[in-house]
Amino acid sequence: MPLNGVNFHSHDFTKIPARQVYPWLVAAIVPRPIAFVSTVDENGVTNLAPFSFFNGVSSNPPCLVFSVARKPDGKKKDTLLNIEKTGEFVVNSSQESIADQVNDASENYPYGVSEFEKIGLTPRVSEWVRPPGVLESSIRMECRLEKWVEIGDGSAGSSTLVIGRVLGIHVADNILLNGEIDYSLLKPVARLGGKKWLRGGEVFSLDRP
Ligand SMILES: Cc1cc2nc3c(=O)[nH]c(=O)nc-3n(C[C@H](O)[C@H](O)[C@H](O)COP(=O)(O)O)c2cc1C
Repeated sequence: MPLNGVNFHSHDFTKIPARQVYPWLVAAIVPRPIAFVSTVDENGVTNLAPFSFFNGVSSNPPCLVFSVARKPDGKKKDTLLNIEKTGEFVVNSSQESIADQVNDASENYPYGVSEFEKIGLTPRVSEWVRPPGVLESSIRMECRLEKWVEIGDGSAGSSTLVIGRVLGIHVADNILLNGEIDYSLLKPVARLGGKKWLRGGEVFSLDRP
């Protein structure tokens, strides 16, 4: 008899093919924040793409991490190629006002084609790194590559964890209330499983013990 009458469906990741693992992972690890990452190549051509295997990992030094998977053919994504070349990137906020553009930027454009132009977002000059940020994002974090960690054997779905040192942050004053970010103004969006996204989640506070 199952505990509380609840049955659990179990999937042994060591026994099922990798392509069947991904949908369960992204459906279970929710909601995921979305790093909207801008980079440049050695000629200054910009690139923009969303990554939801993303989080903050340290405050001293301030570091974040996002994960870039290999393409189905095993090749590296443009974001990773650019970070390998320049060691710099900007993480821009993903919010309701630009959710469509964040999604559109995930299209697999050829290397050297700028998503800024393709999807109609405005580059905003950065202060501490070469890649520009996204003007339409209310928060921009300028980052320098701290280190990367390879996961897997380089085949499709293998990933590179990009750990970035956050050099500084820019926060638009029109999302600030009494000096703090007002989430009803920022309206962050997050990713769930499959094609599903989350917006307008109810915000509540809990006192720390
Ligand atoms: C919301 C969202 C989240 C994504 N998260 C990831 C991710 O965490 N890792 C990844 O490799 N690709 C992720 N993708 C797919 C990339 O954005 C896509 O492969 C993109 O074309 C990479 O661009 P690039 O080649 O210019 O770097 C995501 C796509 C969307 C729409």
